[in-house]
Amino acid sequence: MSQLDVFSLDGRVAIIPGGGGAIGSAMAKALVGAGARVAIVDQTEEKAEAAAAPIRAAGGDVLALGADVTNEADCERAVAATVERFGRLDIIVNAVGGGAGRVLFDAEAYPRDAWDWIMELNLRSTLLATQAAVKAMIAAGHGGRVLNISSVRATLGINAGYSAYVAAKGAISSLTRQWATEWAKHGITVNAIAPTFVDTPQVAMLLDDPAFKAGIVGRIPLGRVGGTDDLTGAAIFFCSAASSFVTGQILGIDGGLTATQ
Ligand SMILES: NC(=O)c1ccc[n+]([C@@H]2O[C@H](COP(=O)([O-])OP(=O)(O)OC[C@H]3O[C@@H](n4cnc5c(N)ncnc54)[C@H](O)[C@@H]3O)[C@@H](O)[C@H]2O)c1
Repeated sequence: MSQLDVFSLDGRVAIIPGGGGAIGSAMAKALVGAGARVAIVDQTEEKAEAAAAPIRAAGGDVLALGADVTNEADCERAVAATVERFGRLDIIVNAVGGGAGRVLFDAEAYPRDAWDWIMELNLRSTLLATQAAVKAMIAAGHGGRVLNISSVRATLGINAGYSAYVAAKGAISSLTRQWATEWAKHGITVNAIAPTFVDTPQVAMLLDDPAFKAGIVGRIPLGRVGGTDDLTGAAIFFCSAASSFVTGQILGIDGGLTATQ
């Protein structure tokens, strides 16, 4: 018996919508490394499989599923396929989202279609996937873990056309607290991580601009943007027994950025 056993995910089953993406695939690899079996869900089975294949080749038990998690029926289907394959569901990590850098507009003229797209990608995806997963957790009666991905943008404005994204991430943080409150009676904890910029293809366009990157890094006390591996330790903590008495919390993973505000 080791003190590290509280972080073990042996016997646990996780579903990761967006698991084919940069952060989601790092989460999938980390949870498998901690002992979980994982269903990776992405827009197409091919995209999910591309993330699943290397984890499977390294010995992990991973299922790849194609589903549109902004669609209720797809979410129900993905959860059912996960339970059918692995026999249970303990954890959902919501890793679908982003898009902000593709729709930067002045606040006074923020277009409705861009607003709706960001809300759907970030907020509706998290809502519908979580509802489907949590219904299964409640029915099974053995508790569970929900981990959302918010952002420092939930609390910090940025002078760069981010209206829809800050609104969506603010809502994710609020929902994290609301769901924690409602689902505690089922033994389900709900937490979120709130990263600053993480070096991923989604934000490459922004970070490729030296002036923009210097502005961001200059405000981060630890002097760099994040990497996907900076997020995985917290994910294992929030998805394991180590965080049994922690719920409704938003953990900044931001190199100290929010500490300076
Ligand atoms: N990259 C960053 O700097 C950063 C910083 C803070 C927070 N985040 C958040 O982390 C999360 C993941 O970001 P990322 O950089 O890994 O993005 P990503 O684009 O690499 O990953 C998102 C994945 O979700 C999938 N997806 C999109 N819509 C879907 C749908 N309807 N159904 C199923 N799958 C769908 C995409 O195909 C993609 O694989 C997002 O919520 C993002 O806002 C990212």
